[in-house]
Amino acid sequence: MEENETLLSEAKKDADAAETSRALYEVKMTYLGRTGKISALLQKMKDAAKEDRPALGKKINDLRMKLEAHFEALEEKIKQRELEYKLKHERIDVTMPGKRKREGVLHPVTRVKNELIDVFAGMGFEIYEGPEIENEYYNFTALNTPADHPARDMQDTFYVTDEFLLRTQTSAAQIRVMEKKKPPIKILSPGRVFRSDDDATHSPMFHQMEGLVVDKGITLCDLQGMLDEFARSVFSDSSKTRLRPSYFPFTEPSVEVDVSCASCGGKGCSLCKGTGWIEVLGAGMVNRRVLENCGVDPDVYTGFAFGMGIERIAMLKYGINNIKLLTENDVRFLEQFKD
Ligand code: DAH
Repeated sequence: MEENETLLSEAKKDADAAETSRALYEVKMTYLGRTGKISALLQKMKDAAKEDRPALGKKINDLRMKLEAHFEALEEKIKQRELEYKLKHERIDVTMPGKRKREGVLHPVTRVKNELIDVFAGMGFEIYEGPEIENEYYNFTALNTPADHPARDMQDTFYVTDEFLLRTQTSAAQIRVMEKKKPPIKILSPGRVFRSDDDATHSPMFHQMEGLVVDKGITLCDLQGMLDEFARSVFSDSSKTRLRPSYFPFTEPSVEVDVSCASCGGKGCSLCKGTGWIEVLGAGMVNRRVLENCGVDPDVYTGFAFGMGIERIAMLKYGINNIKLLTENDVRFLEQFKD
């Protein structure tokens, strides 16, 4: 009995001293746990006289209940205290500035490419993407540029083997489309092209956007009308275009297309070198030999084609003076192209 009393007061003392739920739990286990002091007392009952056992058992049980009640009350108190501590110390100040995640942006070449696709898709063009590794036939021969043709020198070509090369122009896609599809044809072919060329405005890898329209009765006027629409959408509402005679083996006649300088409105400035015009693309009426090469009858069908450099358009549109900025991927540069 005496032992019980001291056990009770000791347990209470130990419990009261516990400051955290964890410490209290440990104290509780030393008394009420499976191998705790109460269990030990119950074990000892074996040594008592048989007739004393029920009374002893009841006492020990009372003791256990008292202890349990005591621990329970303490647990409640400590929990409350811990909660208050948390509420006080772990408070979030919702007026503090949040952590900002840096947002990615589309690369200017991707932006311009998407914009061009939007403009031309609006005029009914479909997208066809050709392979980046081409053979000489699609990249040159079928485009009326046979092996000894001087125009092959206009483009310094990376050869993969004697026959295969990295395409120098998306024009190769024109042939692939005309071989598969009968007119009317109205396709747009964006993609990477490669040339051994490297300075502030040329890069060995760049992007082009090719367009091809073949149908009955297509004329150069259709080309110019479409180009005006393109210039107004991509540059400015007041943009105009101008066709200058040029030469490409796959078109006849061939033209170089200038857009009125958006920077000075055509008056002449450093960007347009005082001319008021900026060259943006090559185009022309599809050469009848090219149509013939693809099994399209040039006496029935005519067509126009155009090809533009996407980097060049991006540089003009955003005032970028070095093409290398477009491949360096410096985020300080790229971040400026937020919507
Ligand atoms: N392929 C030419 C180049 O890379 C651009 C070009 C000119 C494409 C005239 C055409 C075209 O479709 O008709 O310089």
